Amino acid sequence: MKIAVIGTGYVGLVTGTCFADSGNQVACLDVDAKKVERLLAGDIPIYEPGLAELVERNAASGRLQFTTDVASAVAPAQIVYLAVGTPSAADGSADMTYLFAAAESIAPHLRADAVVVTKSTVPVGTCARLEGRFREMLGRPVDVASNPEFLKEGAAIDDFTKPDRVVVGVRRPEVAELLRELYAPFLRTEHPFLVMSPESAEMTKYVANALLSTKISFINEVANVCERLDADINDVRRGIGHDSRIGFAFLFPGVGYGGSCFPKDVRALAHLAKQHGVEPQILTSVDEVNTRQKDVLLEKIDRHFGDELAGRTIAIWGLAFKPKTDDIREAPALVLIDGLLARGAKLQVHDPEAMENVRARYGDRLTYADTPIAALTAADALAIVTEWSEFRNPDFEAIRTAMKAPLIFDGRNLFSLTQMRQANFTYHSIGREVVKAK
Ligand SMILES: NC(=O)c1ccc[n+]([C@@H]2O[C@H](COP(=O)([O-])OP(=O)(O)OC[C@H]3O[C@@H](n4cnc5c(N)ncnc54)[C@H](O)[C@@H]3O)[C@@H](O)[C@H]2O)c1
Repeated sequence: MKIAVIGTGYVGLVTGTCFADSGNQVACLDVDAKKVERLLAGDIPIYEPGLAELVERNAASGRLQFTTDVASAVAPAQIVYLAVGTPSAADGSADMTYLFAAAESIAPHLRADAVVVTKSTVPVGTCARLEGRFREMLGRPVDVASNPEFLKEGAAIDDFTKPDRVVVGVRRPEVAELLRELYAPFLRTEHPFLVMSPESAEMTKYVANALLSTKISFINEVANVCERLDADINDVRRGIGHDSRIGFAFLFPGVGYGGSCFPKDVRALAHLAKQHGVEPQILTSVDEVNTRQKDVLLEKIDRHFGDELAGRTIAIWGLAFKPKTDDIREAPALVLIDGLLARGAKLQVHDPEAMENVRARYGDRLTYADTPIAALTAADALAIVTEWSEFRNPDFEAIRTAMKAPLIFDGRNLFSLTQMRQANFTYHSIGREVVKAK
């Protein structure tokens, strides 16, 4: 099939590349000319495991093309995917500026039988609005379908090519059949292809992200209660997780969720609910608990140092909003960095992939260390914010030697309390007792 993908970010690039890899002819379009230039030069603008090789292979075969030229990308395409950003607007709603700008730019070039598919996460009713806009612009109906994306950054290719399920929202069965054919190579293991209305498909994406966010805020809130009651959240987590109705997924306490999806999608669903007369009590709380949780390490550091934080050197391990990505959108590390800088602390930071993005934001206000251990040089404390696997089994002797004091604030509970007692560190974590160095 001939496909155009509009927007070549984390989702668009993965979508276009995976569809090319299953034999389709794909044109990836972006308005960001620099991004397209980099892609044409074989330079992948984001970090996503396995993506570079896949892009290279499919670009070399001629199946995957990159362009800024709307007509050449859209005119031949049977399916046009919209994968542009839908960030939070000031009132919490999804900002639809990019999506409608993209729709307007493609409209004059659409084939008579083209199907437009939203891959972007969009408010319920967006397909209907797009149908209306195309009818206004072209004086004829255009099929618009919803095909929400459930991939996780850091495991995007696997998630895309081996999806738990594919959801499509369509008005006509023929459109579902076209999309079923497109996805067939990825559904050979009998995972379901779920056909519903565009409205239900749009809602499904928000509900999935809202429920995952709810689990995170729930476990974070009870972790904070555990700390005050001398209960250990890790034991409690195990105690509940073996109940098959509960399970373990997304019930790890930490410093709050970030990224380009959960925060904005929870807010957008809450906004939609309010707009339609439902008070979103749970969603509002999930967002508020998460915002508060992003301060939890800073509060622990504040309590430890009192008025003596200014001038101290704090090392930070992990800046990306989660491991295996360079994405720092709404990352908890940014809240910690801002708070520590405001208190006059000096920061030495390390992340395996996100340093460039953090440098673009903070410039020389931070010291960027090439290795985790280099970040610890003469540090008064280490704060761990992202659970990269390379942080999980460090050499505690080397850490102690590098630092001024053996003091860790761990926002991801990477280490056991026994381990920390043996290594003789003062160790603050989430929802567990504080270990004091002797
Ligand atoms: N990132 C994720 O993990 C993820 C997962 C599932 C769904 N989503 C959703 O997918 C959508 C895209 O997210 P993303 O993280 O890929 O965003 P992104 O910001 O990485 O990429 C968006 C791209 O669209 C381009 N763009 C903007 N306007 C355009 C236009 N008019 N024409 C062509 N290109 C245009 C931008 O230049 C940018 O490269 C969002 O709605 C998001 O909620 C994201």
